[in-house]
Amino acid sequence: MAILAANWKMNGSLALVQAFAETKMHFAHSAHELLFFPPFPLIQALQQAFEGAPSLQVGAQNVSQYEAGAYTGEVSAAMLAEQGLSHVLVGHSERRLYFGETNDIVAVKALRAQAHGLVPVVCIGESLAERESGQTFRVLNAQVQALAEAEVQLRDGLLLLAYEPVWAIGTGLAASPAEISQVHAHIHTCLAELVDESDSTISILYGGSVNANNIEAILAAPHVAGALIGGASLKVDEFSRMAV
Ligand code: 13P
Repeated sequence: MAILAANWKMNGSLALVQAFAETKMHFAHSAHELLFFPPFPLIQALQQAFEGAPSLQVGAQNVSQYEAGAYTGEVSAAMLAEQGLSHVLVGHSERRLYFGETNDIVAVKALRAQAHGLVPVVCIGESLAERESGQTFRVLNAQVQALAEAEVQLRDGLLLLAYEPVWAIGTGLAASPAEISQVHAHIHTCLAELVDESDSTISILYGGSVNANNIEAILAAPHVAGALIGGASLKVDEFSRMAV
């Protein structure tokens, strides 16, 4: 069983929620664990649409680094938890790139989520320039190290990691299963150096141009616990084929 996480990004509508509602029994019988990350205004509608299908979990795409107070436009971890959410995406590369989220901010967000019983799905990954200059492992090490230094709990069940190479997101150029395995193995090694050996079993998802044609090979690759899916998760038919 793998974890399939649907990141709708700033897409979707009540009509899309309705389309997923109509397919919910198919999703409820999936062999995989399904997580959905709609935009904030659609969270409640999707939760209601999935009523009676408790295996379908809903999360948020972002959480504030602040606990509460005068932060117009922000949404706190406490609010997400009160809404009954299980997971929250943290540090997606689009947030790092367009909204200035540094490794330190990402770590604080993960801490806030954990403090309120949410599982942060922390996204890490290198850009094309970083990969081409041989910096992939250095970048990933720094991203994981920042979590450890902030005392984010790097423990299975309390955190998920998503390896999303920036060059593979939305480009149609997924990393190959061999490349993904190599990087995930490296991340596990990095984690093992930072936490007790027994706790270094954190699940690592892969994200970046996953679709119905390549998902089987990606999920079959060693060290891949699941997939974080963007564009293809907005198509009910295609996501249904992945979530068999
Ligand atoms: P795509 O699947 O559209 O490449 O997006 C991946 C992603 O960023 C998921 O978080």
